[in-house]
Amino acid sequence: MTAADAASAAALEAENFSRPWSREDFDKAAADERYLYYVAENNGSITGQAGLLISFDEAELLNVSVSRLSRRCGVAEKLLIKLFEAGRERGVERIFLEVRASNEAAIGLYEKLGFKREGVRKNFYRDPAEDALIYSLENN
Ligand SMILES: CC(C)(COP(=O)(O)OP(=O)(O)OC[C@H]1O[C@@H](n2cnc3c(N)ncnc32)[C@H](O)[C@@H]1OP(=O)(O)O)[C@@H](O)C(=O)NCCC(=O)NCCS
Repeated sequence: MTAADAASAAALEAENFSRPWSREDFDKAAADERYLYYVAENNGSITGQAGLLISFDEAELLNVSVSRLSRRCGVAEKLLIKLFEAGRERGVERIFLEVRASNEAAIGLYEKLGFKREGVRKNFYRDPAEDALIYSLENN
């Protein structure tokens, strides 16, 4: 993802989340070296995106999102494999994430990639209120 992708990234985010990141949020992430973001493109349009917030040898996975028309084609899986490789080159050895307990698609994706469930954060989410499941992956 480059700074030029911020508006498209915000549009895709708004399609998929009740509390989406804004264009400014993506602008800030693009300018901040703690963040590492990748996009998937098809004919010049962004079809998917995901990022890592890196802290030393650990990272949090953020903003995993694929446009509705491009789902179930392996976009998220390929994008995350690429992102995690790039994270490894930056020294990221362990990746954490939170996911809504009812989000079967995302849970299926993360478990397919080898994430292990660590626990639950009760009432972590708003709009609507819901528990978060915590997952982690050894990135090696
Ligand atoms: C979750 C999401 C990113 C998956 O993107 P995708 O490109 O469709 O996923 P892929 O095609 O790469 O699927 C990879 C694996 O994920 C799992 N998966 C994906 N969609 C699924 C679904 N609807 N139901 C169950 N498992 C699913 C499967 O294991 C799939 O492997 P398979 O096709 O061999 O069965 C997409 O559904 C999305 O953008 N959802 C809205 C935003 C969101 O919830 N993000 C996650 C926030 S934590």
